[in-house]
Amino acid sequence: MTANASFPVHPRRIVLITGGSRGLGRNAAEHLARQGFDVVLTYRERADEAQAAVAAIGALGARALALQLDVARSAGFADFAGRVRQALAGQWHVGHLDGLVHNAGIGIHAPFTATTEAQFDELAAIHLKAPFFLSQHLLPLLRDGASIIHLSSGLTRFTQPGYAAYASMKGGVEVLTRYLARELGPRGIRVNTVAPGAIATDFGGGRVRDDAQVGAALAAQTALGRVGLPDDIGPVMAALLQPGMGWVQGQRIEASGGMFL
Ligand SMILES: NC(=O)c1ccc[n+]([C@@H]2O[C@H](COP(=O)([O-])OP(=O)(O)OC[C@H]3O[C@@H](n4cnc5c(N)ncnc54)[C@H](OP(=O)(O)O)[C@@H]3O)[C@@H](O)[C@H]2O)c1
Repeated sequence: MTANASFPVHPRRIVLITGGSRGLGRNAAEHLARQGFDVVLTYRERADEAQAAVAAIGALGARALALQLDVARSAGFADFAGRVRQALAGQWHVGHLDGLVHNAGIGIHAPFTATTEAQFDELAAIHLKAPFFLSQHLLPLLRDGASIIHLSSGLTRFTQPGYAAYASMKGGVEVLTRYLARELGPRGIRVNTVAPGAIATDFGGGRVRDDAQVGAALAAQTALGRVGLPDDIGPVMAALLQPGMGWVQGQRIEASGGMFL
C-alpha cells in the first residue's frame, strides 16, 4: 500500500513532469491531458511559459499546476516534495501521484578536450543526480503501480562528436532505470526510459530546429527521412503511462525515426 492510503482515489490520474513548461515535456503534458491525466509541471525560470502551458492544458479539460524547481539543486528537493504534497492535497484532495516524468534538461555541445569540469558537473546534476534523488524524495507520494519515466537520448546508442559528457549522463540514467525497475517492482512501480533522437525544440540552442544544415544532415541519417518533432515524442511518454503498457518494465524505448540504424 502507499503511504497515503487514507486519501480517496481521485477519478483523474495525476502526473508530475519536470520541465513541462515547454518542448517535449509540454507536449507530453498536453497528450496526457487529452488522455485523462491532470498535470503538475515544473519550470526553472520561464514562469510565463509555464503559465501558458497550464492554460493550454486547462483548455483541454484537464487541471494543471506549475511549480518552480531547479533540478540542478538537490538541496531543494525535500522542500519541493513538501510543496507537491500540499498541492495534491489542496487542489486534488489526494495524497498520491500516478506518474513521474524526469524530463527537465539542457544540452551542452563541447568537444571532449574542451569540456570543463563545471559543464560536466552541471550535466551530471541535471541529467543523473536529479532523477536519482528527486525520485527518492517523491517516492512516498507515488502510489503503488505508478510509472516513472526517464529521458535519455539516441546519443547513448550512437555517437556524435561533442556529446561525451551529455551522453554519459544519459547512459547513467538508463542504468538507473533498470535498477529502479528492479527495486521498485515489488510495489508495482514501472520505470522505463524514453530515448528521443534529434528533435526540433529549444534544446541545445535550437540547433536541430533552426540550423538547416544540421537538420538536413540528421534527416539524411534517419530512416524516416526527417528530424523529429515534439509530437513524435510526447505521445510515447503518454503511452508509457497507460495501463496497456503495464508489462513494460526497465526498458529503453528509442523514438528516433530510425537514426543511424
Ligand atoms: N530535443 C532533443 O533533440 C532531445 C533529444 C534527446 C533527448 N532530449 C531530452 O529531452 C528532455 C527535454 O528536452 P527538450 O527538447 O524539451 O528541451 P527544451 O525545449 O529546452 O525544454 C527544457 C525544459 O527543461 C527545463 N529545465 C532546464 N533546465 C532545468 C533545470 N536546471 N531545472 C529545472 N528545469 C529545467 C526548462 O525549464 P525553463 O523553461 O524554465 O527553462 C524546460 O521546461 C531533456 O532531458 C533532453 O535531454 C532532447
